[in-house]
This record gives sequence, structure tokens and C-alpha cells, in this order.
Amino acid sequence: MGFPDNFLWGGATAANQCEGGYNQGGRGLANVDVIPTGPDRRAVITGKRKMLNFDDEYFYPAKDAIDMYTHFKEDIALFAEMGFKTYRLSIAWSRIFPNGDEEVPNEEGLQFYQDIFQECHKFNIEPLVTITHFDCPIHLIKEYGGWRNRKMIGFYEKLCRTLFTRYQGLVKYWLTFNEINMILHAPFLGAGLTFEHGENEEQIKYQAAHHELVASAIATKIAHEIDPQNQVGCMLAAASYYPYSCNPKDVWESKQSDRGNYFFIDVQSRGVYPPYARKMLAKKGIKIEQTKEDLEIIKAHTVDFISFSYYASRVAASEDSNVQKTEGNLFPTIKNPYLESSEWGWQIDPLGLRITMNDLYDRYQKPLFIVENGLGAVDIPDENGIVNDDYRIAYLRAHIKAMKDAIDEDGVVLLGYTSWGCIDLVSAGTGEMKKRYGYIYVDRDNEGRGTLERGRKKSFYWYKQVIASNGEKLSCNEL
Ligand code: BG6
Repeated sequence: MGFPDNFLWGGATAANQCEGGYNQGGRGLANVDVIPTGPDRRAVITGKRKMLNFDDEYFYPAKDAIDMYTHFKEDIALFAEMGFKTYRLSIAWSRIFPNGDEEVPNEEGLQFYQDIFQECHKFNIEPLVTITHFDCPIHLIKEYGGWRNRKMIGFYEKLCRTLFTRYQGLVKYWLTFNEINMILHAPFLGAGLTFEHGENEEQIKYQAAHHELVASAIATKIAHEIDPQNQVGCMLAAASYYPYSCNPKDVWESKQSDRGNYFFIDVQSRGVYPPYARKMLAKKGIKIEQTKEDLEIIKAHTVDFISFSYYASRVAASEDSNVQKTEGNLFPTIKNPYLESSEWGWQIDPLGLRITMNDLYDRYQKPLFIVENGLGAVDIPDENGIVNDDYRIAYLRAHIKAMKDAIDEDGVVLLGYTSWGCIDLVSAGTGEMKKRYGYIYVDRDNEGRGTLERGRKKSFYWYKQVIASNGEKLSCNEL
């Protein structure tokens, strides 16, 4: 019992949070480049404040990030040293199509990822590729309005066809859209959406989501056509909602909140807009323009597996309940009095991972893949330059234990686990460097100062042991 022999242990990153090199190799500008740190970040991420160019008053952490653009060989060698079986990374769309609507891709960008994939295979690391991780060429936003425009489906299709063709034999695991449900909470980040005063934002978000859902189904179709070995997954920012109390009103609220997230992967995995979603949209007065062909393609090309991120559980309450709020992944949630929180207020709940896994597996009966999980924390190297991150080890250990329980006790099928930010990178939510998730420390601070030197944290050695023992040795005793 325990983890299956071919279990895919590894780590995850996203192009915009680690690559840097924003203007190198023919890369075009993207939404993720022009999101600054500081108090205006949230307004930009949510599309309330339009920022489509750099402004000298602000600092933009994604421009250089941790410069994986030039360090990738060193970084992959470190992943290999930990024994990674897989490495989840994302493609920067504007490296492949700098404007997004060209006919011919940028060879330098294509070669860059080819080099990365070949480097991975040198160490028997299977790449797991997110086609878009919060990433959209700025030209597509300026010219077409991002995913609100149906034409985006065609641009995305061209991107996918290019990737599947070029990387055939090098990549077989693909994710179409990172945390697709985040379009509701972070529409500029998730879909390049900005809003004019007085616009019906929900209408625009759900229409854009429909375009992404059709694009995802088309991608799944072509991935399978180009290479039947390809496995395509959806990707949800998951975490089941708990009712704040056993008051049926709270229970109902938690069900509604779960459905708000499930909607996206219900479509991607079951191939239909669920009845509750149709009713919900009608009630809100939202009318989605969709064709018969859209619905046919969604129906015919469902995903092979369900991938998700999980950091913390969530709580829902009816208006009658008197609750306190705390921070969570990209948006606040209700504070759960039974849980401790991270330094950023995210609630720590390993059993919540087992609950979420069971909920997803019960619902879809497709293999799961945990593609993000981890603890964002402040790391302070000691006098020898080592980060003794026992807090991170404790978090990860408890979550891996919960995964094991879900597999052993509940029969959930899990393909792999890629913990988030296996190397320190820029935080998506805050833009900070000091919110670190990595096994590998990167010398860089919030203002972009530092040598970029990489160093192994205590958790590096711990995770190496976890992988070598296929999840059996979770304690630090033998380090
Ligand atoms: C997920 C994203 O929402 O959470 C990642 O897919 C992100 O891009 C991660 O970095 C952790 O969030 P944060 O805000 O701590 O970086």
C-alpha cells in the first residue's frame, strides 16, 4: 500500500513568477509583466485599475523574477538532485507568439522550452506543462479585450497546436488553464480582463470563462489527435467549503460556494453546463453567447484527469452568521476557529486536503493530480546561510500524510504531487519575494536586490528523502 510505484513526485512553477527575461529572446509583453507590487496590485489584478504599460512609479517583480530564463539548467539539476520525477512549469504565451495574433511563432521562444524539456529528460524528469498560467499577451488585451473576445479561442488554439506539434515526444502531460475558476476573483490576471465604469462585470467574466472552456475542449481534442499519448487535465483552485455551523443556511451556503468553483471543471470533466449553473446564470441575468458547436465540442472532449491546487480549506456562512475574515488564495475567506494560519493568514488544514480529494474523486471518478500545495513563509538563513525551514517540512509532511490516507484508506487515485514554488519565486498574490515556498532558496528580495544565488534549504534534503522512499519516510530523524 502507499503511493504507487510510478507516482509523480515533483515541484511546480509558473513562467511569470520565475523566468524573468521579460524582453529577451523576442518575447512580447504580457499582462503578468505589468502587475506591480504595492497597494495598487489588487486593483490591477482584478481589472478595476487598467495598467497596460509600465509606469516608472511602480516596481514590477515579474520583469526579472528569479531569472530562471538564464539559470534553468542549474535549477533543473537541483530538482534532479532531489529526485524529481516531474516538473510542472508553464509556457509564457508571449515567448511563442509575442503579440498573440501572428501567424508564425517565435523560434527563439520555442527553442527555449525545447531546451528546458530536453534538460528535464536528461534526468528522467517528466515535464507537466501548463499552457497558460495567468498569462496573456498584452497585444491581445489592447486589441481584442482579452478573453471577453471570442477570437481568443482561435489564438489559443494556434498556440496549442504549435506546442503539441513541436513538443510531441517531449511532453505528454498538459494543463489547459491554471486555476480556471480564478477568472471570477482575479479577472485581469486570469483572463486579461479590464472593466469600464458601469459594465456588468459578471456577464463579462462568465462570457470570457465560456471562451476559455471552449478553448480548453478544443485543446484537449487537438492534443489527443496529435498524439494519443497526450494526457490533458483541467486545473482548479480547489479546497472544499465547510459550513460555518450546522445551521442549514450555512450548509446551503457552503454547497453554493463549492458549486461556484465546481462549475468550471464540471464543464471540463463532465462535458455539460450543469443545471445548477444554468439556473444560477439565469437568475443573475447573465446571458452567455454560445453556439451549438461550442456545446458539442465541450461534450465530446472532456479532460483525462483533474488537477488542482490546495493550500487551505474555506468556510462559508449565511448572512445570519457572525463571522471573522482572514486572507486566502487571492481572496479572503471566513476564519475557521479550529485552524492555525500561516504568516499570510492562510489557514492550515491537512485533513481539508483529504476531504477535498475525496470530494473531487467522488464527483468525477477521474484520476487526480495535486499540482500546487505548500506554505508561503519568511525564511531567514542562519549564520551558515542555511534555512532551517522546519515549519515548511511540518506543513508538507502533514499534507503528504493526508494524501496517503486518501489513497490508502479512501481509494482515491492520485497521479502525482508537485508542491508549489519548489524554488523560491515571486508571489502571485502580493508580488513579494519574501513569501517563499521553495526547497531552494534564492537570494533576492522584495525590491529586486540580491545575487540570485541558489541554496539548499533543510526541506531540500527532507523532500529528497520523501521522494527516495516513495512517501514512506516523512520524518526528519534520518536527515
Ligand atoms: C496559486 C497560483 O493561486 O497560488 C500560483 O496558481 C500562486 O501562481 C500560488 O503563486 C500561491 O499564491 P501566492 O499568492 O502565495 O503566490
